[in-house]
Amino acid sequence: MLGVLQDESEVRRRAMRFVITAGPTREHIDAVRFLSNPSTGKMGFAIAEAAAKRGHEVVLIAGPVVLKTPAGVRRVDVVSAREMLKAVCAECRPGTVLAGVAAVADFRPKISAKRKLHKGEMPGAIELVHNPDILASVKTKGVVKVGFAAETDDVLASAADKCRRKNLRMIVANDVSRRGIGFGADDNEVAFLFPDGAVERLPKMTKRAVARRIVERIESWF
Ligand code: PMT
Repeated sequence: MLGVLQDESEVRRRAMRFVITAGPTREHIDAVRFLSNPSTGKMGFAIAEAAAKRGHEVVLIAGPVVLKTPAGVRRVDVVSAREMLKAVCAECRPGTVLAGVAAVADFRPKISAKRKLHKGEMPGAIELVHNPDILASVKTKGVVKVGFAAETDDVLASAADKCRRKNLRMIVANDVSRRGIGFGADDNEVAFLFPDGAVERLPKMTKRAVARRIVERIESWF
């Protein structure tokens, strides 16, 4: 009997639309060399999986990663930050929850060669330019934005600052300098931060468990 009631409440949960970014971006210097970071996509894919399992529509915009697409998720593959921005803008409309889990490269080389440069052709220094900030760029009315903050020091203060600057409903802070959590790990230890200054610390748990807590928190707002 209890099982039946639980199933009914699952059905009654209001289905939402999630757009989730995951993984790294690559910013090419030439055809085979690029700037990037160690993100594997595990955290973003776990959130996509959790949201889909709970009956939500999920679009997963993924940088270059080797993970399988979770069941029930529509995946859009991109390489660079500018491609990710374009895909995010195409998918966001009023009512969308945008979760920025991707480790987007903040800079790209000013010049990128289409072919492989020979050693002798490589410049002594690579000039960098700023990439667009994807979360801050999305200003569509009715889009609820949730971000992540990958920090190595002053974790909570830096995350709180990003939450305000990017106009987020919540930011999930993680310390990527610690072993066993953050980039590449199966576990994470995060804190939820809100624009009013509230902070909720979660203990270390699997990324799948963190993902479920994030999705449940977002559901509670609607
Ligand atoms: O992929 P995994 O190996 O599982 O690792 C998970 C993770 C460490 C990548 C993840 O937990 C995480 O912290 N993701 C955010 C990484 C990041 O780029 O953080 P940031 O503090 O630099 O950026 C803050 C927020 O702005 C993020 O939501 C980011 O997606 C977004 N951003 C950043 C730069 C940019 N140009 N555009 C953005 O939208």
